[in-house]
Amino acid sequence: MDDIQSILFDEETINEKVREIAGRISRDYAGKELILVCILKGAAVFTADLMRRLTLPVTVEFVQAASYGASTTSSKTITMKKNLDVDIKGKHVLMVDTIIDTGGTLNHLFALFRERGPASLKAVALLDKKARRTIPVPIAYSGFEIPDAFVIGYGADYGEKYRNLPYVAVLKPSSVE
Ligand code: IMP
Ligand code: MG
Repeated sequence: MDDIQSILFDEETINEKVREIAGRISRDYAGKELILVCILKGAAVFTADLMRRLTLPVTVEFVQAASYGASTTSSKTITMKKNLDVDIKGKHVLMVDTIIDTGGTLNHLFALFRERGPASLKAVALLDKKARRTIPVPIAYSGFEIPDAFVIGYGADYGEKYRNLPYVAVLKPSSVE
């Protein structure tokens, strides 16, 4: 764990926040059915925790976006590695991501799915790097605002590693190639 500078949010702090967000979503969508769209790979952990705390009838779908660029920055070219393959017309859709950085990925998905005529289309993110936003995107449910640092854990990777850490940590700047 030489690549870790400091722990930002420990397991208990994350659990508490996920519980709070799930409560808000359960209240807001009461009486409705919800499709959760997990944005792979990062959101796998958050989605698994969040969905188990929702008191609603939910289904879960998975999409994967790919962006070209360096490992610790997000580029603007986004393609779909795995697209949504269910009909969302007239359905309530909530996209789930762990981190919103520039907003590019989420903006792309909003545009893509809005065309399919869902009853509602919103987003939830555990971590919001607000200072890095270049494309404004609405995040209906946001967990923590974090500073402009590269973080790992709770689904977030550095070179595909560290997704399994149960906490969110800041990567040592010296570890970044
Ligand atoms: P955006 O399109 O710039 O908002 O980037 C969103 C995606 O970039 C996230 O879903 C992550 O996969 C990745 N990302 C952004 N910041 C970090 C970070 O600090 N650690 C790990 N992945 C990150
Ligand atoms: Mg990544």
